[in-house]
Amino acid sequence: MALFVLFGSTGDLAQRKLYPALWSMWQKGQLDDTFAMLGVARKAQEDAAFRHQVAQAIGMEDNADPSWASFSQRFFYLSADLTQQASIQALRDRILTLEESFHTQGRRIFYLAIAPALFAPVVQQIRTTGLHQAPSDGFCRVVIEKPFGYDLASATDLNQTLREVFDEPQIYRIDHYLGKEMVQNTTAIRFANGLFEPLWNRHYVDNVQITVAESVGVEDRASYYEKAGALRDMVQNHLLQMLTLIAMEPPAHLQTEEIRDEKVKVLRALRSFDRGRVTREVVRGQYGPGRIGDKEVVGYRQEQGVDPASMTETFVALTFYVDNERWAGVPFYARTGKRLKEQGAQIVVTFRPLAHPLYKPRDANLAENRLVIRIQPIEGIYLEINSKQPGQEERIVPVALDYCQNCDPLVNTPQAYETLILDVLQGDPTRFTRWDEAALSWSLIDTIEEAWQAQTPFYPNYAAGSLGPAEADLLLESGGRRWWPLNTRADVDLFVRSAS
Ligand code: BG6
Repeated sequence: MALFVLFGSTGDLAQRKLYPALWSMWQKGQLDDTFAMLGVARKAQEDAAFRHQVAQAIGMEDNADPSWASFSQRFFYLSADLTQQASIQALRDRILTLEESFHTQGRRIFYLAIAPALFAPVVQQIRTTGLHQAPSDGFCRVVIEKPFGYDLASATDLNQTLREVFDEPQIYRIDHYLGKEMVQNTTAIRFANGLFEPLWNRHYVDNVQITVAESVGVEDRASYYEKAGALRDMVQNHLLQMLTLIAMEPPAHLQTEEIRDEKVKVLRALRSFDRGRVTREVVRGQYGPGRIGDKEVVGYRQEQGVDPASMTETFVALTFYVDNERWAGVPFYARTGKRLKEQGAQIVVTFRPLAHPLYKPRDANLAENRLVIRIQPIEGIYLEINSKQPGQEERIVPVALDYCQNCDPLVNTPQAYETLILDVLQGDPTRFTRWDEAALSWSLIDTIEEAWQAQTPFYPNYAAGSLGPAEADLLLESGGRRWWPLNTRADVDLFVRSAS
């Protein structure tokens, strides 16, 4: 196992994702007796207070679970100001002492869940401790949370700082979408089924839609989000990662660098965005006040910490083209936004209609075949095909083969962070972003941001609780298409009925 040195141990991410993931891994036996955690942050507190904080994060304040005691005894805390030499020395001493007591044999993971401005100084301080190089029988890995830069230039700077201290195989750039079960499943669905891969190209696929909709607003992250916006926050990483998995060529083997090489080829094949394309094929939006369910919510500009005249986008919809032999001409529509009607993430692959549909003249109901990979909150696979309705009329109706993996109470899908932490422990970077992936996606995003600078949008342009600005629908309607509804059955039924 290993010693985790967590920078940002009092932060929101640690609290919401990392401690619960570690606890779940402990319960499953994925962490053993040689696991220990050193939390590092500025806040002054003792180990006991830190353990209490971890207990709160995992709902274990009453110490009810018998394995909690042995888990919590592995959490230690160091209050440090890493601009001070004394703190750096204290960090080094503490790491070495813990490594000895927990017999971690020089296996250490530096986990950076801190504000981007602190990445470079912390990395430099790690170097000053001299502990960035693992002993010959151990390892030293560094995990970097997003945002990995703000644009290509800042990402390049950050990367240079990292590379001065760590080698690329030591660096694990997190994109937590890659740890989600159904995102991992996209390649399994493609490459483990004779049914889909032969059809997975421009001859049979009409369009692909990738949606990540959130009903939450900016929450308490305004200071970060104001500078980021939806394009940098979601498209540069999560949406483009999903697109590459859908569009990539099959690698010769399921090996880390072979998979990453194929993903990079997709990023290279993405059509670049000039100003004309940005105007025609990129829609941005910002939410105004509205209602989500039965709750009234304020507009983005009224959120705490947000500039009342903010021009930050909270919604993006855009069309990508992968200009290669397999995908030439097939639109990949992507959209994401905050404060939308409902939460849901899915990938929809719509297949072309038959060239000579025997049934079409008799029945206008003939729908396109559609594969929906449901990422969350429902995790599943939904395949829509046409079938004869029982009766003597020969009426054709769309029917769904609908598999929901998290509807089964016996299936306990691991949280994305459990999978990713396990990968780091096992030294498998496949589900992490390689530098060239990050660089290529930033350069694409930069061109959109530059084109946006030249135009002033009119905000707010969608109400909280809606599905985003109307222009996002027009993006598809011009090609005679529609966004496939999000995950509720009621919506899907409605869509099928309205199409008939
Ligand atoms: C993060 C973004 O990367 O992903 C957030 O910074 C967003 O703004 C979050 O809310 C969405 O992740 P999930 O797992 O809740 O879909």
